[in-house]
Amino acid sequence: MIKIIGANSGDAHSFFELLRIYYPYYEDNEELFLTYSKKEEFVEVEVQFPKESFTEKFPYEENPIHLRHRVARWLITSLSKEKKVPNKWGILTGIRPIKFVRNHLLEKEEDEVYRLLINHYLVEEKLSHLLIEMAKKEEKLTKDLDSAGYSLYINIPFCPSRCHYCSYPTILNNDKSRIKKYINSLVKELQVVLENGKKWPSSIYIGGGTPTSIPEEQLERILSILKPYGKDIEFTVEAGRPETITDSMLNLLSKYGVNRISVNPQTMKDQTLVDLGRNHTVEDIVEAYKRVKKFPKIHVNMDLIAGLPGENEKDFEDTLEKIYELSPESITIHMLSLKNGSKLYEKNQFSFEDISSIQDKAMERNINHGFLPYYMYRQKRILGNSENIGYAKEGYESIYNMIMMEELQSTIGVGMGSTSKIFDGKEGKILKNSNFRNLRDYEERLDEIIEEKKFFLEKVNEYVME
Ligand SMILES: C[S@@+](CC[C@H](N)C(=O)[O-])C[C@H]1O[C@@H](n2cnc3c(N)ncnc32)[C@H](O)[C@@H]1O
Ligand code: SF4
Repeated sequence: MIKIIGANSGDAHSFFELLRIYYPYYEDNEELFLTYSKKEEFVEVEVQFPKESFTEKFPYEENPIHLRHRVARWLITSLSKEKKVPNKWGILTGIRPIKFVRNHLLEKEEDEVYRLLINHYLVEEKLSHLLIEMAKKEEKLTKDLDSAGYSLYINIPFCPSRCHYCSYPTILNNDKSRIKKYINSLVKELQVVLENGKKWPSSIYIGGGTPTSIPEEQLERILSILKPYGKDIEFTVEAGRPETITDSMLNLLSKYGVNRISVNPQTMKDQTLVDLGRNHTVEDIVEAYKRVKKFPKIHVNMDLIAGLPGENEKDFEDTLEKIYELSPESITIHMLSLKNGSKLYEKNQFSFEDISSIQDKAMERNINHGFLPYYMYRQKRILGNSENIGYAKEGYESIYNMIMMEELQSTIGVGMGSTSKIFDGKEGKILKNSNFRNLRDYEERLDEIIEEKKFFLEKVNEYVME
């Protein structure tokens, strides 16, 4: 157990995260205490391990964040070496590192940002370079984006089965009337959004869940509403499970202007797919991919997960090689994160291989095959405190992914569990709002949700008029 005593909630959160990352052993095993005591002229911090303790005094600083960072640097450099896990991220803990770097690049020279990352945040040199390069690339790719506009996310929470690593609130797709009822509600919410927005969405993403796992006539109800809006913009539908990617489904997506789909192998090792409850084989993925390729206007992204139970580095390299043979337009590499609510978490099942460098090695291979990193995000409880990285062949970077990750625009979420983020131009703030995460509340309290949506759209519209 790791316990922080005496610090305010912001400091406590930051210190806890760092101790958890650098000393993960203590989270579930022995005790580790940090005591933060404010004295008249300085702050005293004591960290007690079971067999040794470390104490340091820190003078107050004008900016309390600087004091927090000073303590953080001490925590990661000056404590016990025993049971310590190295980490390339230094004291940076946020989930949006590229946004962080982009904001600094607005005010500082590149060199200065580089030094800040290395000297102040103690980020590894190679990673600091990468962050700056990715931030610059994103800046270029999104420079013409209308920051006063919005993008649309539509959630279809149904899936053919539950994958063992998944913690999303998903529902089995075996009850047609339940799906129809859900789509009835979703269509109402969607129409309110489209009717009340002054602008048309800059990009559309239908995700889940597995949107292509619902009956075609239900998906068509949504696609037909979106058709005029989806023209000339990035229009993605997640089609994660290969058994849902039939010729007629592809005809439907193509007819309504969908130009990007996600076909998600997760791994190209059959045994792992069985162990994960994915209910499909590697061959199914290859066949589904061939079917999609008959539609040249539809680009394909493939999601992979590194660090899956039962897999070692070699397995992951084999997966990558098989993906290169298919040659989709983009690849997203997630590191396994053990999430509460997933079967793997319940069984505490994870790979014991050292996978800390897997993402770095994958990056080298990807770059050699023409897949360049263009967005990145971090998650809590991700293996090796690593990160998720999106790669794309040049010209196939997803604008929606960059908008979401770097909060470049308002996003409006429609459907159960979806989140909306609205730029309040007047207040200069981002307002967040999430729809209910269970079907019953979403359907029964739809009127409330719709009223909230109207309020948020007004905020977007106000921003547009300024
Ligand atoms: C929101 S999920 C939905 C995608 C789609 N339903 C599918 O499974 O094909 C998006 C991606 O997140 C990744 N993902 C989900 N749970 C994960 C976990 N526990 N650890 C790492 N990646 C995860 C998977 O690669 C998945 O394709
Ligand atoms: S990973 Fe995708 S397909 Fe699997 S249960 Fe989660 S949302 Fe559904």
